[in-house]
Amino acid sequence: MTAELAITMGTTNTAIYVAGNGIVLYEPTAIAYFGDPKLGKVRAVGKEAVALLGRSSDNTSVIYPITDGYITNPEACKDMLSEFLKKLFTPKLFGYKIKAIVGLPIGITIEERRIYDDIFAKIGLNEIIAVENIYLTAVGLNLPIHSHKMHFVVNIGGGITEISAISSSDIVKGCSISIGGNMMDKAVRDYVLGKFDFKLSLRTISKIKETIGSLYSNDTSCMTVTGVDLARRVPGELRIKATDIMEAIMPYYLRIADGVESVIKSVSPDVGFDLISGGLHFAGGGSNVLGLNKLMSERFSVPINVHADGEFSAIYGAGKLLSDVVLLNEILTKH
Ligand SMILES: Nc1ncnc2c1ncn2[C@@H]1O[C@H](COP(=O)(O)OP(=O)(O)O)[C@@H](O)[C@H]1O
Ligand SMILES: [Mg+2]
Repeated sequence: MTAELAITMGTTNTAIYVAGNGIVLYEPTAIAYFGDPKLGKVRAVGKEAVALLGRSSDNTSVIYPITDGYITNPEACKDMLSEFLKKLFTPKLFGYKIKAIVGLPIGITIEERRIYDDIFAKIGLNEIIAVENIYLTAVGLNLPIHSHKMHFVVNIGGGITEISAISSSDIVKGCSISIGGNMMDKAVRDYVLGKFDFKLSLRTISKIKETIGSLYSNDTSCMTVTGVDLARRVPGELRIKATDIMEAIMPYYLRIADGVESVIKSVSPDVGFDLISGGLHFAGGGSNVLGLNKLMSERFSVPINVHADGEFSAIYGAGKLLSDVVLLNEILTKH
């Protein structure tokens, strides 16, 4: 018997899709060990691992195995995936052959690819079909990528932003830039430190950014959060405005726009009509920020499509490929 699943691993979140069941897991790409991680004693993975941050004894280490889009700690990555699979399947997968579609970052080297393959073999996946995450994103957004028209897709994640022009089931141009939500969180942290002499945890900042973050300079939302008042050296509350977040994160969205512009410039001018008619498609968690549509519309004067639930587009696309044999075969002939 064969079980079919799909896995995408981002800097911030890992997702697993099971044929027939849909997306069954979407959790932080994180693992916590008891003591020295080298001993391999797993304490928790995903949400539970993140919850231990700053709240457990020094004896626990929390690791994010993916940095800036790429696996930087293969051992931790393998342990994390293996725990996720155990959580989902024990003991149901016993005796099954597992076929999996897995997402890869764009522009991966042969050595990096080997790291992925090695992990997938170790966690017991028997058959691997590897497809670029940005491609999976386009499939997940239901773009007709098999057509000759050029489709422009941007995925703003936690560690990187991937940008590509896709046509005839092929990535014609693609790149990734090291800008993502994590970097923006750090920028907000530094901004708040500089302006208010107030220290906020990165977890609190993600929450603020995801709740009131906005690219509108006239956004009046605000939020009261707790942190440490450095002047008085005591825990305290701070009222933070959407415009404070905007000041800190705007430069990064502008750099993403620069990246998009360079990909547009690198493709043939013949696709101008495709761009004007189809526009740009934005997905990934970072595209949820309020005002992205306006910012990008002003910059590019083409239709801007910011997709709802864009952080799920890659895993959804991978899941879709599991059942779309025609599309899958077409992709495989191009890879
Ligand atoms: N409303 C929002 N505004 C701005 N950023 C957001 C919002 N929602 C999620 N994010 C950011 O999106 C990133 C996670 O996106 P995701 O696509 O899951 O990342 P990855 O695939 O790289 O793991 C995080 O940095 C998170 O803070
Ligand atoms: Mg993503």
